[in-house]
Amino acid sequence: MTKDVSVAAADVHDQSTRSALLELLQTCGEEEANVTGCIDLPPLKTTLADARGYGETFLVGHFAGRLAGMLSYRREGPGLRVCRMAISPRFIRHGIASALLDHLMKQEPEVPLIRVNTDAANRPAIGCYRRLGFHIERRWATPDGVSMVMLIKA
Ligand SMILES: CC(C)(COP(=O)(O)OP(=O)(O)OC[C@H]1O[C@@H](n2cnc3c(N)ncnc32)[C@H](O)[C@@H]1OP(=O)(O)O)[C@@H](O)C(=O)NCCC(=O)NCCS
Repeated sequence: MTKDVSVAAADVHDQSTRSALLELLQTCGEEEANVTGCIDLPPLKTTLADARGYGETFLVGHFAGRLAGMLSYRREGPGLRVCRMAISPRFIRHGIASALLDHLMKQEPEVPLIRVNTDAANRPAIGCYRRLGFHIERRWATPDGVSMVMLIKA
């Protein structure tokens, strides 16, 4: 992690944090839709209130003090599932996603595996997860015909 990048738990009870995270999810959902061609993405439809209902915990990444990205995760069986990751287009390729995932892995060293699903066409995300030691465990298509992959780090 460069000295300009920092990661912390997000206080989703704070109204301004919630607004900033929702804006980030919306912007990145549009970015992901551009990359994958899929316009029916969960980040574009789910509210932060829904997400809290699913038991997600949020981490935020800052670059030089500015909010640059977020990751949410939840417990699943003995492991963790990364539910969402969104990096502001202004801070792409600044190592924010890597820092968020690295923070999660260090924070939960006893967890035997971390899973994440993404669109099979999302090359930036797949490249990012692979670089951090994830491998593709499973491929499938949704009922709407979207090709998906599950990546795992064990
Ligand atoms: C995918 C995403 C999370 C990557 O975030 P990021 O902060 O730019 O990633 P990092 O800077 O940590 O990059 C780590 C590695 O990922 C890979 N990577 C990242 N962006 C890439 C791209 N556009 N093309 C190819 N590989 C890419 C590279 O291997 C990169 O390492 P390098 O820069 O040293 O070559 C970000 O582009 C994003 O938010 N996209 C829209 C939302 C999304 O797709 N979320 C994931 C859903 S699970």
